[in-house]
Amino acid sequence: MLTVRAYAKVNLTLEVLGKRADGYHQIASVMQTIDLSDELTFTISDEINLRCNVPALETDTNLALRAASLLKERTGYSGGVDIFLKKNIPVASGMGGGSSDAAATLKALGRLWELDLGNEELQPLASSLGSDVSFFLFGGTAIAEGRGEIVYELPPMPTVHLVLLAPPLEIPDKTATMYGRLTPEHFTKGEASLSLQHCLEDGKEPDAKLLFNVFEGVAFDLFPSLEVYRRAMLEAGADWVRLTGSGPALYTFVASRVEALALAEKLREGGYEPYVATTGG
Ligand code: C5P
Repeated sequence: MLTVRAYAKVNLTLEVLGKRADGYHQIASVMQTIDLSDELTFTISDEINLRCNVPALETDTNLALRAASLLKERTGYSGGVDIFLKKNIPVASGMGGGSSDAAATLKALGRLWELDLGNEELQPLASSLGSDVSFFLFGGTAIAEGRGEIVYELPPMPTVHLVLLAPPLEIPDKTATMYGRLTPEHFTKGEASLSLQHCLEDGKEPDAKLLFNVFEGVAFDLFPSLEVYRRAMLEAGADWVRLTGSGPALYTFVASRVEALALAEKLREGGYEPYVATTGG
């Protein structure tokens, strides 16, 4: 039996450079794992099965289940695994929970099934499961390019405290829909990600001015009540608010854990359910 954590992420930058011939978009994104995590337990078995504390996620499309099946198919491993997924990361929020579960599954089963596979061998499987999965093979601080699957590790960012809100707002096929709303006016050249990369390479904590997310240009139209959540964070004392991934989760940095807890408490008093986290994971 093996139990592992699958960490959530925030996008410190997320730029779209253009639309590609294959229908995907070319991106540049500085990504960072945070210490909010799902927990996955793997037990060797004859077949592949998944149980989850959220029964609605026990489907064939669950990325942890798909990762296990793909690894078995590609390696010819004869056995299976029982997976138990304890979900803590809000689903379809822009925090990468499903992608992180998939990467954690590939790595954990590599060990449990004694396949002796490194990130280099797992990367093609990760990228076929989803554009964000490769990043989670590494975690920490990294820049993602291509459609997200080309990942370069960056020096770890100095520890930062965050407060996040994951509004319970849903749209069908969220990621594809959000990308589909982008037009050439939203496209940038990757300068924001490059500036942030240089800042991190100098060992500095990123200034909020360096953070950027292209989807803020369309998210507030697609999720009309998102603005209510953004304002709630500002009114509770956040200096600024950024979207992570294609949303709808929002985050801000604060100076200390004490400040994070105070901001979260104010949000709770307003009826919201914030998350307090630090970078790492
Ligand atoms: O790779 P993933 O399955 O997460 O992508 C979901 C959808 O998001 C894709 O089918 C595509 O429509 C869109 N997408 C995109 N460009 C990217 C990543 C995703 O257009 N770089």
